[in-house]
Amino acid sequence: MIGRLNHVAIAVKSLNAGIAIYKQTLGAKVSAPLPQPEHGVTVVFVELPNTKIELLEPLGANSPIAKFLERNADGGIHHICYEVDDILKARDQLKAQGARVLGDGTPKIGAHGKPVLFLHPKDFIGTLVELEQV
Ligand code: CO
Repeated sequence: MIGRLNHVAIAVKSLNAGIAIYKQTLGAKVSAPLPQPEHGVTVVFVELPNTKIELLEPLGANSPIAKFLERNADGGIHHICYEVDDILKARDQLKAQGARVLGDGTPKIGAHGKPVLFLHPKDFIGTLVELEQV
């Protein structure tokens, strides 16, 4: 069902500190910050030869990553994103196997302009999983 690893998302309190680590310390190519008010985050994309890392900084009062950063003061891996060919088919197969899909189960348009869904971490070894239709 799942295909390529699309990205790993890391929540950070300070985007500038995260950019410095990936750009200066690790020598990676990092995009300009992109505010995404509808998702409550500002994002930068770290482009690696085989995948992407996304650094997420909270944006606005009701950021979905605010609680995560309360529990993880240094920041940390927030979710991983796998590509699927057909997100509705994937959703239905997963639900039939008892997996919980977050929200109302309707795909939303994610950070890359493609439909995404999130799966409950308790059903996936403690990892928040994002599915993105490519
Ligand atoms: Co993501």
